[in-house]
Amino acid sequence: MNNKIIIINGPNLNLLGEREQSQYGSITFDKLKDSCEKKSKELGLELNFSQSNLEGELVNIIQDSRKKYDGMIINAAAFTHTSVAIRDALDLFKKPIIEVHISNIYKREEFRQKSLLSDIVTGGIFGLGADGYILAIISMHKLLKI
Ligand code: DQA
Repeated sequence: MNNKIIIINGPNLNLLGEREQSQYGSITFDKLKDSCEKKSKELGLELNFSQSNLEGELVNIIQDSRKKYDGMIINAAAFTHTSVAIRDALDLFKKPIIEVHISNIYKREEFRQKSLLSDIVTGGIFGLGADGYILAIISMHKLLKI
C-alpha cells in the first residue's frame, strides 16, 4: 500500500495555542494532531505526526522517512528560512512533499519571505491557518493515488 505519510513540524509548533494567536490561531498542537489523524484515517492514510525543536533531529527524521513513508508534509517553521541541512535532506526524499505554513509568510517580516524549501518540494500551502494541514492531507491523498 502506498498510504504511509508523515507530517513533520519544526520548532515552537508544539506551543501552538499559546504562541502569537494573531498569526497561528487558537488551535493547540494536540488538537491539530487529532484533526490530522482523523482526516488521514477518513482517507485511508496511515499518519505519523511528529515534531522537534532541533534541526539535526529534523534532518534525522527526514532521512529515516525515505524508507518508511510514501509522502511527507512539512512545516519546518523557522528552519524554513535558514536551514540548508533540512533542504538537502528533503531533496533526498524523492517522493511527494508538501510544505505548509499556518501564516502567510509572504505578508510578514522580510526574513520570513524567503523559503529555502519551496523550490524543491512538490507544492505548498500557506496563510490558511491550521486548515492548511487538512488541505495538505487531501492533496497528498490525491498525489499518492490511493
Ligand atoms: C510558520 C512560519 C515561520 O516563519 C515561523 O517561524 C513558524 C511558523 C507558519 O506555520 O506560519 O514557526 O512556519
